[in-house]
Amino acid sequence: MAIERTLSIIKPNAVSARKIGAIIQRFEAAGFSIVACKMVKLTEEQAQGFYAEHKERDFFPRLMQFLLTAPVVALVLEKENAIESYREIMGATDPESAATGTIRADYGQNVTINAVHGSDSPESAAREIAYFFAESEVNSYE
Ligand code: PPS
Repeated sequence: MAIERTLSIIKPNAVSARKIGAIIQRFEAAGFSIVACKMVKLTEEQAQGFYAEHKERDFFPRLMQFLLTAPVVALVLEKENAIESYREIMGATDPESAATGTIRADYGQNVTINAVHGSDSPESAAREIAYFFAESEVNSYE
């Protein structure tokens, strides 16, 4: 299987709850290499741009308000089949439906305050990684 990269965001509720380390530990335990990492206090414009595809949805204002409550941590994770593999450990969007032991089941509160984000396709991973990181900021271990 091909080595892929995916974008992860540790969202404001998990940052405020001091769960950055616990969540990053799960990434490494699952075999991901962290090839880029930064903490960002999103501006309203940055949050709107990142989630632009959802801007007509009724939940959009709620999502924007949540994202501005504390900094987020953006990471690029690398592994074989990274996008699907990350989505497995992340769990379903709604923590109440997320499988036991997933990050959202353990650290999410509801469909908005759901602890982490992950890219859903190679195309969105490429767009989302470029949204937070210059190419020169994404490293390789080999
Ligand atoms: S969808 O419906 O498949 O397009 O949306 P989804 O990819 O599941 O979710 C996109 C992000 O929007 C947030 N979201 C919501 N917030 C508030 N209320 C409701 N009902 C809701 N549904 C989805 C959700 O947290 C998703 O954020 P990310 O960061 O992409 O997981």
